[in-house]
Amino acid sequence: MLIIEGKQVMMKDAPVITIDGPAGSGKGTVAHNVAATLGWHLLDSGALYRLVAFTALKQGIALDDEAALVAVGRELDVIFTGNKQGGTGIILDGQNVTHDIRTEECGSAASQVAAFSSVRTALLDRQRAFLQMPGLVADGRDMGTVVFPDAFVKVYLTASAQIRAERRKKQLKEQGIDVSLSCLVRDIESRDARDCGRKSAPLKPAADAVIIDTDQLSVDEVVNNVLSLVQERRSVL
Ligand code: DC
Repeated sequence: MLIIEGKQVMMKDAPVITIDGPAGSGKGTVAHNVAATLGWHLLDSGALYRLVAFTALKQGIALDDEAALVAVGRELDVIFTGNKQGGTGIILDGQNVTHDIRTEECGSAASQVAAFSSVRTALLDRQRAFLQMPGLVADGRDMGTVVFPDAFVKVYLTASAQIRAERRKKQLKEQGIDVSLSCLVRDIESRDARDCGRKSAPLKPAADAVIIDTDQLSVDEVVNNVLSLVQERRSVL
């Protein structure tokens, strides 16, 4: 047990940094860069929800068939490759699906399956198993509130829907995909509404999270902010 700013902080195993926030807030890139800099493990929890959605879409399972979705979540045969200090590859049932799960369709379906608390429970142990020495950077919606409530640094990234849509448009353009900005804003707003409005583990900052508005910040600036927080907390440990 450690005491930070008069508060008890549990550090049972390896230390955890949680990075939560809405779609397109840049948390994936930030989490990746922070993990690479520290040489820590990385959990992209959104990928797990995307994998459940991807499997459901592929197998023709309805996105409201809760029991079938839970079974998919429990039985996911997935390997994350190079999740320490490098790019992440995702192998599902022996097939590389790294890029297949990144579509807008899969993101929206992931947000739907993630609304079931039973699906979330089915994925909980799998997420916690990522916690290994020397430490973990966990990226998602409920990392600081539900999955790792004892994390020693919690960050919540925000950005306006407009800016997030512009970033996504640029990303898609680099992949040769042209989508209208207004469509992306609409998608992002409906995903926010669903992720924030659901009963189970809604998207919200943990009470002890540091909120960083990334509208006017570069990725490097956000990464440096997070690393400074880690430094500050470490200096009091
Ligand atoms: O971060 P992402 O876009 O890959 O996440 C896809 C969806 O998965 C997101 O809209 C909501 C859900 N999700 C969640 O509910 N909890 C998490 N920890 C991560 C993602």
